[in-house]
Amino acid sequence: MNIKRLHWWHFFGGVALFLLLIQFFSGLVLTMFYLPNLHDAYASMNSIYNEHSLVAWLRDSHRWAALFIVVTVILHLIRSFIRRDYLNGKGKMFWLMGMLVFLPLIGLLITGLILPWEWRAYWFMEMVPNYAGEIAFIGPALKDFLIDSFTMNRTLVAHVLIFPVIALVLLEIHCLSKMRKRKGKLSRYFIVHGLLALPFLMAIAVLAYALPMPTQDPEIIPMPLEGAYLPTVEWFILILYVPYLHMKGFMAPLLGLYLPFLIFLSLAFLPYIVRSREVGDRQASDADSINKRSVLSRITRWIPGFGPQSRLLAAIGICMVAITMFGSIYAGTAVSPTMGCNSCHNILSGVRMGVPPATFKERIKNPVLENSQWMVQHWFYPQHYW
Ligand code: HEC
Repeated sequence: MNIKRLHWWHFFGGVALFLLLIQFFSGLVLTMFYLPNLHDAYASMNSIYNEHSLVAWLRDSHRWAALFIVVTVILHLIRSFIRRDYLNGKGKMFWLMGMLVFLPLIGLLITGLILPWEWRAYWFMEMVPNYAGEIAFIGPALKDFLIDSFTMNRTLVAHVLIFPVIALVLLEIHCLSKMRKRKGKLSRYFIVHGLLALPFLMAIAVLAYALPMPTQDPEIIPMPLEGAYLPTVEWFILILYVPYLHMKGFMAPLLGLYLPFLIFLSLAFLPYIVRSREVGDRQASDADSINKRSVLSRITRWIPGFGPQSRLLAAIGICMVAITMFGSIYAGTAVSPTMGCNSCHNILSGVRMGVPPATFKERIKNPVLENSQWMVQHWFYPQHYW
C-alpha cells in the first residue's frame, strides 16, 4: 500500500479514517454525560435521552458510525486483497498493521456495548469471558481475569484510552506516518475523503434520528423481537456465537473461535506466507504493477479496449465478495432482537428483571452464567428460552 496520490482504491480506508474522527468527537461529548459506575451508568443514558435530545442523537450516531467503520474497514480489506497488496514486498508491514487494527476495533466494540449497562451490556460482559475461557491453555485464567477485573471504570478507560491508543499506534504505522510525509496534499486528502464519506455521514445522521436505541424505559418499551432485522455493529461479534446456538461440545469453539482465529492469523501474515513462494519477478515493489497483475485485470486485458473498465470489474468484484460476506453475517444474526431486551427486562417488570443482578460476578450463585448455550439461545430467541 503506497499512498502516493489520491486514489479511489483508498476510498474505503480513507472513509474509515474519517469516521474514526467522527467517533472521537462524538465520544468526547458522550464522556461528559456518562457516569461510569454500575448504579448510574444506565440512568445516565436514560437522562441523556430524556433531557438532552441532541446528545442522544450523537450517541445513536456513535452507534451507527461504529457499524459503518467495521463495514468500510472490511471493504477496504477486500479491496486490498483483490488488488493483492500482500504481494507488495515493501508493504508487508502495512498489511500486517492494517489487519492488527481489527483487534483494538473489536475491543472498542465490546467495551462500547458494555458501557450502557442494560441487559444487553450485562449479557456481553458475561458472554465475552465465557468465550475467552474456551481458548486452549490460557483460557480459564483469562476468563477469571476478565470477570475479576471487571468494573465500569476500567471498561470506560479501556474504551476511551487503551484501545484508541493501540489503534492509533497501529494506524500510525499503517498509514498516518506516510500521509504526513505528503505535506501539502494532506488537507486535500481530508477534503476529498470527507466528501466521499458524506453519503455515509448522511446515512448515519438519518439512521440515528429515525432508529434510536430504546433507552428511555419505562417511557418507551419495545416489543420483544424489535430490531430483529436491523443491522448493528454487534452482528460482527454475534456471528461468532452462532455455533454455540446449534452445537455442543468441541464443535462450537471450533467454528466460533478457532476457525475465525486461524483465518485472521493467515490473513494477517499472508504477505509473509505467500512471499516465499512468489519470489523473483513476481515480487512487486510498486502498487501499480501489482494492479496490472491482479486476477481480474489479467483476464480483462485480453478483451480489446477493456483496460480502464477493468477497474469497474474490480469494483463489481468487491461488491460481490462484500454481498456474500455481509449476506452470510446477516443470515446468521438476523433473528437477534437488538432492541427488544428492554421489553421484558425493564424496571416495570420488577427489580429482578429490571436491573442486572448484583451477583453478576458470582457464577456459583448464578449457574446459568456458565451456560453459553443458554445465554446465546436466550439472546436470539428470548421468547422461547428462559
Ligand atoms: C420475552 C421476554 C424476554 C426478553 C425479550 C428477554 N428476556 Fe432475558 N429473561 C426473561 C426472563 C423471564 C428471565 C428470567 C429467567 C429466570 O428467572 O430463570 C430472563 C433472564 C435473563 C438473564 C439471566 C438473568 C439472571 O439473573 O441470571 C439474562 C442474562 C437475560 N435474560 C438477558 C437478556 C437479553 C440480553 C435479552 C435481549 C437480547 C433478553 N434477556 C430478552 C425474559 C426475557
